[in-house]
Amino acid sequence: MQEPQATTPPSSPDTDAAPGTTVGGAPAGVAFPKTIKSFVRRAGRTTTGQAKAFEAWGPAYVLPYQAQTLDLEKAFGGPGPVVMEIGFGMGDATAHIAGLMPETHFLCCEVHEPGVGALLKHIGERNLTNIRILQHDAVEVIDHMLPEQVLDGVHIFFPDPWHKTKHNKRRLIQSPLVAKLAARLRPGGYLHCATDWQPYAEQILEVLGAEPSLRNRQADGGYAEKPAYRPLTKFEKRGLKLGHGVWDVVFEKR
Ligand SMILES: C[S@@+](CC[C@H](N)C(=O)[O-])C[C@H]1O[C@@H](n2cnc3c(N)ncnc32)[C@H](O)[C@@H]1O
Repeated sequence: MQEPQATTPPSSPDTDAAPGTTVGGAPAGVAFPKTIKSFVRRAGRTTTGQAKAFEAWGPAYVLPYQAQTLDLEKAFGGPGPVVMEIGFGMGDATAHIAGLMPETHFLCCEVHEPGVGALLKHIGERNLTNIRILQHDAVEVIDHMLPEQVLDGVHIFFPDPWHKTKHNKRRLIQSPLVAKLAARLRPGGYLHCATDWQPYAEQILEVLGAEPSLRNRQADGGYAEKPAYRPLTKFEKRGLKLGHGVWDVVFEKR
């Protein structure tokens, strides 16, 4: 999968740094130190359809980012299991899964504006009322808006692979974030990741395996069969035809 080009990668000497990690002091004239991000804000035109969807559905389905605890029941208009999705892209898988599971509440983070517009369009067209969107860095959402043991699941599908070694530190799935996610899962809640980049798949299996509060749902400790709810994306179908692999990893909170 294509990944955004880091035109101005943060110049951190700390190779173990992870997204959300603050690096370096604030240079003169800059108010805050830099934080490593797992994304770059890509240019991309919001289409007229997406802009209309923002107008029509944004007020009801996009939540403001606030550095304070989010009342999930209030946000979704009632109780229900909550699954967080990080980086939904254009929201195709999100909309599919939310349609399959109308009783589950999906808290979905994405920073790419056209993607948010695209998911809002799905919401309007399919009348999906069980999705709420945060157009914000998921790491900050987790840090500041989610208390412990409130999530029943987490979906991270095809996170940016950051292929180059010098960019690997931007990968989302590293132990600090996994520990935070594990803390926010209820016992029995799951963390489902999928990637088409084998070195990242190996990293995910290793990092999740090293988190003591999680266990692999796969008895042999390996990769999972693709769970039925995750649809095959167009990109994935094309890759599979070419013989490329996709790896699903599903762990659960002890
Ligand atoms: C490679 S795309 C995959 C999109 C989608 N899940 C799919 O399967 O097509 C990864 C997405 O994650 C988003 N992303 C990366 N880091 C993020 C973060 N910290 N918070 C929110 N979104 C993030 C990017 O903007 C990008 O759209």
